Amino acid sequence: MQEKLNGLAVKAQTDLASLTTRPEFEAAKARLVGPHGELTALMKQMGAVPKEERPAVGKLINETKQRIQELLDAGLARIEAREMQAQLGPAVDPTLPTPDFGPGTYHPLTLVREEMCRILRKVGFTVADGPEVESEYYCFDALNTPADHPARDAQDTFYFPDNARFGNVSKKIDGEKYLLRTHTSSVQIRTMLQGKPPIRIVSPGRVYRRDTTDATHSANFNQIECLYVDKNVTVRDLKALLDYIFTSLLGPDTKTRFRPHYFSYTEPSFEVDLSARHLPKVKKDWIEIGGCGMVDPAVFAEVGYDPEVWTGYAFGMGLERLAMLLYGIDDIRYFYQNDLRFLKQFA
Ligand code: DAH
Repeated sequence: MQEKLNGLAVKAQTDLASLTTRPEFEAAKARLVGPHGELTALMKQMGAVPKEERPAVGKLINETKQRIQELLDAGLARIEAREMQAQLGPAVDPTLPTPDFGPGTYHPLTLVREEMCRILRKVGFTVADGPEVESEYYCFDALNTPADHPARDAQDTFYFPDNARFGNVSKKIDGEKYLLRTHTSSVQIRTMLQGKPPIRIVSPGRVYRRDTTDATHSANFNQIECLYVDKNVTVRDLKALLDYIFTSLLGPDTKTRFRPHYFSYTEPSFEVDLSARHLPKVKKDWIEIGGCGMVDPAVFAEVGYDPEVWTGYAFGMGLERLAMLLYGIDDIRYFYQNDLRFLKQFA
């Protein structure tokens, strides 16, 4: 009996070592440990073993069983690894050079974003970041945007289901949802809640709106947001900064103008137009580029800044539109297609 058991363990080892497919494995497993398998057959002979030998034989049976199970586990792992390898195809050496592409280039949106941040750093702004998943609090409520504002409509905004949870969004009003941020203005609130004035930040980032894509619209695009909070800040400072930014980016012939507008987080509020007729492909005299205004006292009150003491301006604009102006690109979709013929032009 002992010999047979030891023999079975040795046989299992040779049998399983040569298996390459799952059906072969299943057949071998049935042969060895299945209800009609060899180990089961040996166990059934236990009755014929003399009483005094039974404890030793019982122990050996258990050891053999365990040994065979280990061999089966190892055999199955080998087969699974083979299957995975077959799916992955031949091995790739990631350290080989890529002869076709040469060194990479920066994406035009990256170029414009970095240039804007560089221009703003020169006059004391620092770059701030915020998450793309927000609560309605940061995106709307704290920005004095009432619950019935159209931007909060489910038709305009990507909301998460009620049971979604996000650990990094610390402030959320009961019953309100999480959403993909509709603008980078949410970073204004995050920055003001974190620190004390004076504040001077620029925050570039992705934003999301329900929109059908065409030459000038995309459901996912990029914005640049600026916030300046200090004492005695006026519209004049805002206009001067915008003039500085746009002449730096687009050239000395660029002009800016304000048109009165409404944003719930600024008062007064304006839309900003650019005249950049000297640029290639700009056919219109004036092009709308973003929104701005003086921070509404209600926003200061929400973040705990005394509106009697602090003043500030804020503005936000689309990065794609700036890049389109600067490089003479006439379709926003080029930015997202990653066509090398397009991208290589920005080397
Ligand atoms: N958040 C606005 C938008 O997405 C742009 C904007 C307007 C930003 C006025 C501001 C501002 O900071 O003050 O259309």
